[in-house]
Amino acid sequence: MENISPKKRKTMNGNGTDSSSSAYFEAYEDLDVHRLMLDDKSRTLAYKNAIFNMKEHFADKIVMDVGAGTGILTIFCAQAGAKKVYAVEASNLANIIPQVAAENNVVDKVQVIPKLAEDINPCEIEKVDIIVSEWMGFYLIHEGMLDSVIFSRDNFLKEGGLMFPSVAKIYAAPCQFPCYNELWNDVCGVSMKCVAELYRNSKSLKVLPQLIPKEDILADEKLLVWLDLNTTTIEELNRLGGQESVMICSKSGKYQGIGIWFDVEFPDGSILSTSPQADPTHWKQFVIVFPQTFEVEDKEPVAFTLEFCRSADPRKYQISFNMLDALELDHEIPCDCYMTKCIVTKAYIESQKLTMDIDTGTESMAC
Ligand SMILES: C[S@@+](CC[C@H](N)C(=O)[O-])C[C@H]1O[C@@H](n2cnc3c(N)ncnc32)[C@H](O)[C@@H]1O
Ligand SMILES: [Zn+2]
Repeated sequence: MENISPKKRKTMNGNGTDSSSSAYFEAYEDLDVHRLMLDDKSRTLAYKNAIFNMKEHFADKIVMDVGAGTGILTIFCAQAGAKKVYAVEASNLANIIPQVAAENNVVDKVQVIPKLAEDINPCEIEKVDIIVSEWMGFYLIHEGMLDSVIFSRDNFLKEGGLMFPSVAKIYAAPCQFPCYNELWNDVCGVSMKCVAELYRNSKSLKVLPQLIPKEDILADEKLLVWLDLNTTTIEELNRLGGQESVMICSKSGKYQGIGIWFDVEFPDGSILSTSPQADPTHWKQFVIVFPQTFEVEDKEPVAFTLEFCRSADPRKYQISFNMLDALELDHEIPCDCYMTKCIVTKAYIESQKLTMDIDTGTESMAC
């Protein structure tokens, strides 16, 4: 499946052969892109709160902000007490960062490095105690900027240094998508199912950014990818997910596609979530729309594999989705689905638990 490339941050068309691709960095010179990110309070405050919650770790420390943009995270780190912040920014936006630092009275703490993180000579800077970066693209990994953060970690972070964020996860869930289906059944009294089909076809084979209403999620989310950013390697990012996922519908509905979203966690334990359950962010969620609808019942198992493979353009991923027959696969034990073997297994486990409870109760009475 060819994924779409644009962040609604902006289309990032890295040319795939060179991470210094000018189109990618030119796109980041558009201030509308930065306005969108800065104005995403869930995003920006998640970083601010995580940094300020760990002020004692920033006090007198050396920090690197990989991809500093307008310098917002750099300023947070300086305000949190860092001795020095290297603001690494490869686009021409690097020119504005000293002025932002001056406006916020932290100019003496901020050293702008106007180049690619990959082009920094280790001799030109000190090793850093903390790396801060907002590198997340559509469905987390699109844009491939995590490669630059991992490179920075491996080359510039002191042993035992901190990564902000430190964990990243991708989730998926079966969903109904009325805007690609039922919406067209009755447009002010006119039936347009044929237009809906055309619309779905135009959207298929793509991963689309879209907000998913909570009520359109048909089963609990499944964790597909878990990245420890202290240890993850660039090679690991070439192929992610791909395991068989069985999910149990928590209500009946129309299974019309897959919703995808991500979370990142900071060292203080706080989470920036792009889930439909959390406040909306500029990333929204991502959807894969099926050409047809599958009616599902409460407690029905559904199954699929979803795999992210890096394309020839390292900033992009091919996403392969395979629907599987959930009745043929092993389910978690205990499982809440309606299959007889799962009902029987669950009942047996419950009865064993009851026996153990009764035994424990008898023992404590004997004491
Ligand atoms: C998602 S924006 C984040 C900007 C800012 N940190 C913020 O939170 O608002 C990523 C920034 O990283 C820069 N960038 C991406 N890869 C880079 C690299 N390898 N070296 C230096 N800057 C990079 C981009 O130009 C862009 O300004
Ligand atoms: Zn089951």
